[in-house]
Amino acid sequence: MRPFVRGPILLILMNHSRTQLIAGNWKMNCSRSEAIQLASHVVATLKPVDAQLLICVPSIHLADISRLIANSRVLLGAQNAHWQEKGAYTGEISVNMLADYQVSYLLVGHSERRQMFADDNKKVALKFEAALKNGLTPILCIGETLEQRQQNLTLNVLQVQCEAVVKQVGIKAFANACVAYEPIWAIGTGQTATPEQAQQVHQALRAWFAEQDEEIATNLQILYGGSMNAGNAEELLAQPDIDGGLIGGASLKADAFLKIYSAAG
Ligand code: 13P
Repeated sequence: MRPFVRGPILLILMNHSRTQLIAGNWKMNCSRSEAIQLASHVVATLKPVDAQLLICVPSIHLADISRLIANSRVLLGAQNAHWQEKGAYTGEISVNMLADYQVSYLLVGHSERRQMFADDNKKVALKFEAALKNGLTPILCIGETLEQRQQNLTLNVLQVQCEAVVKQVGIKAFANACVAYEPIWAIGTGQTATPEQAQQVHQALRAWFAEQDEEIATNLQILYGGSMNAGNAEELLAQPDIDGGLIGGASLKADAFLKIYSAAG
């Protein structure tokens, strides 16, 4: 009897275990007053739906924004941090410093950091580990270039990027983490992956995680990022393996960002 009973129950759990996460990545945008205005607008006009809402702001604005979103549903994230706790690392910020500002998420491995700031797989893995040690949820950003996609290397590239982190922290650590698939060719280009293209990759990624741990894979939030906006979000978020979005440009306009959030609910 048991196998027949377990199938449907497992299916029900799988359908209900993943909440959507809508995350804004402000990148290096917004003066102090613009940041306060944007976050205030988001907090004031937010109509709660059954999804999580996160903004990843420049570190210099964390103190202001953390005060501003206190007692709201908006979660706070940082875009980068060093993996060491403290020391002679001029210009860097440690993860435990972030924790003092009610930061609960940390982006790691964004392609802009990989390409422009030499964040290689090892550093990304160390940052991921440091986030977890300090009680933050790391969002592991992965993605392929256009050339890699054209050469059919997408999944290989993503697996190598994920493997480096799994090797550092173990597969179980992904119980407290998210993954964001951000094809580099879609970032800031207006050239969004089609819902089918994105779903295909998300499904393959989840299958790759499932080979190592089925439960982790079932519960893992896999976000899509790359020119997501108020017009295309609904269709992307409707895909079974897309569990949210990591949004750059459209997160700088409160109305557009909140439309995406509503589409997730
Ligand atoms: P855009 O939404 O501007 O394409 O940026 C995506 C991104 O890089 C989010 O991290």
